[in-house]
Amino acid sequence: MALNMDAIGKKIGPLTKAYTWKDCSLYALGVGAGFSDLDYCYEKDLKVIPSFSIAAVFDFLSHVGAASNVNLAGVLHGEQELVFHNPIPPEGELITEGAITAYYDKGKDKGALVVATCDTRHSNGQKLFTATATIFSRLDGGFGGPEAPSKHVVFPDRAPDFTVTETPAANQPLLYRLSGDIFQLHADPEFARMAGFEKPIMHGLCTHGFACRALIASLCPGQPELVRRFDGRFSKPLYPGVPIETRIWKTGDGKAVWRTVNAETGDVVIDMGVCEIGPVPRDEIRFDGRVAIVTGAGAGLGRTYALELARRGAAVVVNDLGSARDGSGAGSSSPADQVVAEILAAGGQAVANYDNVATAEGGASIVQTAVEAFGRVDIVINNAGILRDKSFARMTPENWNAVLAVHLNGAFHVTRPAFEIMKRQGYGRIVMTTSAAGLYGNFGQANYTAAKLALTGLMNTLKLEGQKYDIKVNTIAPVAASRLTEDILPPDLLEKLSPEYVAPMVMVLCSERCPVSGRIYNAGMGFFNRAAVVTGPGTVVGGGEQAPTVDDVAAAMDKISTLTDGKEYFQLNDQLGDVLAAFSAPAAKLGPKTKTTAGTR
Ligand code: NAI
Repeated sequence: MALNMDAIGKKIGPLTKAYTWKDCSLYALGVGAGFSDLDYCYEKDLKVIPSFSIAAVFDFLSHVGAASNVNLAGVLHGEQELVFHNPIPPEGELITEGAITAYYDKGKDKGALVVATCDTRHSNGQKLFTATATIFSRLDGGFGGPEAPSKHVVFPDRAPDFTVTETPAANQPLLYRLSGDIFQLHADPEFARMAGFEKPIMHGLCTHGFACRALIASLCPGQPELVRRFDGRFSKPLYPGVPIETRIWKTGDGKAVWRTVNAETGDVVIDMGVCEIGPVPRDEIRFDGRVAIVTGAGAGLGRTYALELARRGAAVVVNDLGSARDGSGAGSSSPADQVVAEILAAGGQAVANYDNVATAEGGASIVQTAVEAFGRVDIVINNAGILRDKSFARMTPENWNAVLAVHLNGAFHVTRPAFEIMKRQGYGRIVMTTSAAGLYGNFGQANYTAAKLALTGLMNTLKLEGQKYDIKVNTIAPVAASRLTEDILPPDLLEKLSPEYVAPMVMVLCSERCPVSGRIYNAGMGFFNRAAVVTGPGTVVGGGEQAPTVDDVAAAMDKISTLTDGKEYFQLNDQLGDVLAAFSAPAAKLGPKTKTTAGTR
């Protein structure tokens, strides 16, 4: 076996891990927290110990082990550096991507170092932390690689400013391993003896968690979110039940060095520790350097999106035909011009465009306006819309076609040329605008509801075609007072029905850190939720060998209809796979059982 040189620089991930407050609490208990630091254990106002980060992305380290081809018999966790960008929320999904960055050679008898770095984002889009792990592989040295750069941490020549003494329980590793690191060395006495130890040893990262708690208690009590950096080198094994001292020296404003010592023998078990404490950085969503097209931006929701994008640094194409609410009239340049004037007056960048989204030429010209004025297109918000409500019996082809032309064809005509540019540049954010009327139905809006739901079908395919180019496509179902809704929505709610209550969600979906693609969000009055197509577990009728009879289907309607244990599919093939699996599963267990959301990124 030899280290796999080709693995250097190759992307590992994205690896996704869903977690809840219980995972954070379990980790906290695993690293010695309890009633004395209840904030880490109790779900009310739960705070997450920053070192939870590395336990939570433990999968990444397993992938590094496999990709590098290290000889697992000789592997130890060597060093761990953690840099924090944002506090870790108590629940959500962690999305980790990284790579092996270097191999270092300590010599044939001494071993090799495998260094890997990963970035972890939260499903809320925030970058949480960057972890750099060094794996010490005792059996892979002598491959002729470079020597590791030396690392120096200077400890002041005085007694520590803080010493925190704790005694991990005799069963500590059994509790800690439930957070993910189930290596036998920490649980199986026989395995531990084979590896040369008298009994299972503490996980280095468990002692690391004790140290992290000790540092927070000493340097920023009750404020784990202030930890900006936390590094250490694992230097000696430790048995559970042995008291440890974490010794901390302050070295400057917000800076400290530390080491953790076996209090019985004086052996340093974690050395060269560095910790930095500082204010939580401001992490605003910005669009500097990004170019956005907002259709129908002369009024209502579109205007608010355009103003907010520009305020956050985007250059905006403000498209609006300026027609009447039903799409009639010759069109007027004034709504778009007014919004552009507002943006310029506030120091932003914008150009007006008056084309009709309902034609292919109009769509091409809108995209061309962006390219000519600003050189690229990063964001498209398909927002332009009209209404021609009629009960279905009175729906004329003209009213049907006019509404489909603006909402559905309009999104096609603008998005298609923009999508080409986004593919070339390897980046894009597209927002479709549906409506609760389209998602759930509304009397008298057959044309509008058909067009609006069709946009979610367009999204479903574009999310797949855009996936490998970092093009994310999502859909908003807004509720806001505008000329489209002025006579429908209750006047007493008008203030909360301002488009400002919708725009923040659209900004998230347009941003670089948008964590999702292919999702539908209701947004209005400050209330947000997600809508989705959910498929029930279903059942095979007629044994699968012959066509089922009408009576068989009628008798099975309850089973066919249930959405209990239903799930979402990311694409057609996933659903097809479940149908085929239903035929190979034992009859009593047919159909999907989990409630997981397959591949929602
Ligand atoms: P709005 O009428 O205030 O704004 C729509 C804008 O689109 C108008 O300025 C109009 O001139 C422009 N427009 C119409 N046809 C166009 C075309 N062919 N080409 C270019 N521009 C055109 O309406 P609002 O309420 O701001 O609606 C924005 C979007 O949100 C629409 O797609 C609408 O269906 C959708 N929506 C709105 C809801 C609400 O509660 N306001 C509810 C659900 C969906």
